[in-house]
Amino acid sequence: MVNKYSFKVNGSEYTIEAEADTLLIDVLREKLNLTGTKRGCDNSTCGSCTVIFNGKAVKSCRKTIEDVQGGEVVTVEGLAKGKKLHPVQQALIEAGAIQCGYCIPGIATELAALFDQNPDADEDTIVKALYKHLCRCTGYEAIKDAALLAQQLIEKGT
Ligand code: FES
Ligand code: FES
Repeated sequence: MVNKYSFKVNGSEYTIEAEADTLLIDVLREKLNLTGTKRGCDNSTCGSCTVIFNGKAVKSCRKTIEDVQGGEVVTVEGLAKGKKLHPVQQALIEAGAIQCGYCIPGIATELAALFDQNPDADEDTIVKALYKHLCRCTGYEAIKDAALLAQQLIEKGT
């Protein structure tokens, strides 16, 4: 049955008509045209669809529109403030951690949520967060370096 669901995405309020089990990834990509969020698998293992929901990193292929009713979603499109990239995005570029880039929206939102909650997250915590993401290109070392650099940028307030 089609219902109306209201929630915020990247600071703007939306009301969408959809079936209750419509996946958040499909709402973002197909109804809101926020195609930065990527689908990389069909079994909820790749992490490339990760967004921030009510402050926590979640897989948007595992959340329905009903799950996010009344809540707040931030996608990769919502990380930058105007032309200023989020420190995590800046660090991913500076550390040379981006190759094809397919995994990066998920990793950027994962790390942004982590550092919002715990700016001093230790390396083990960072590596555990990155375990949730499949990167077919980089071998992860540069991504981990980027995460550590992002912490420095956040600390400096840059
Ligand atoms: S699309 Fe792969 S975990 Fe969601
Ligand atoms: S940069 Fe290509 S999948 Fe990660």
